Amino acid sequence: MPIQRTIGAIGCVAGALLLLACAGDDGGSSATDSSATTEPSEGSEGSEGSAGSDGGSLIDEDFVVAEALGYADNFVKINAVAEGSQHGLADTVNYWVQPEHEVEYRSIDPATHTPELSFPVGTIMVKEHLDAMGEFAGLTVMAKAEPGYNPDQNDWWFANIGADMGVNESGKIGYCFSCHDGNGTAPTDYLYGVPADKQTAP
Ligand code: HEC
Repeated sequence: MPIQRTIGAIGCVAGALLLLACAGDDGGSSATDSSATTEPSEGSEGSEGSAGSDGGSLIDEDFVVAEALGYADNFVKINAVAEGSQHGLADTVNYWVQPEHEVEYRSIDPATHTPELSFPVGTIMVKEHLDAMGEFAGLTVMAKAEPGYNPDQNDWWFANIGADMGVNESGKIGYCFSCHDGNGTAPTDYLYGVPADKQTAP
């Protein structure tokens, strides 16, 4: 592992521990941001029936979760072989993207954080977690909400889905972003990408 990434990983140890610590939490709310969360000041007409989420009308969380859980049928796997990653809770991982974003995602060079990219509203990225036996152990999901949802983080919405396919946490999860903002990922819309030599043939 290059030294730069090792430093990044150390900086994210707290986040990684949280990822582990939150594995059994089925409360559906984030311990890291709930106290700082406020109702969106705009679009309040869409807030009735909110199930305790902080998305308001700027993201349809149920739709995103359903889409993400359908990854194996509807998304494209980018990496050739499942390997270890910086995510806790996983022995190995796979990266899945929607077909319409495949070309752009493949173009990300994790070493240089190029080219400059901005993924559109509705984009969903899935990282599939596998356990030591290669069995499904959960998903982490990033989805692009409407502008204004999370302006400091390019309006990304984050989720941690467990092996039982239940949502452990979702929303503006601080520890997700603390890593995804690391090592200069801003130009590639806070995505790391998969090295070209680890990808399947397009
Ligand atoms: C310890 C640091 C760390 C934490 C915490 C973390 N990530 Fe990641 N994530 C990474 C790194 C590094 C990659 C790409 C390389 C890899 O897998 O190691 C990545 C890749 C991803 C990808 C694939 C898209 C991409 O960036 O190329 C998704 C989706 C993702 N993470 C979602 C999440 C979500 C959701 C959370 C919080 C529940 C989270 N991550 C927490 C470091 C982290």
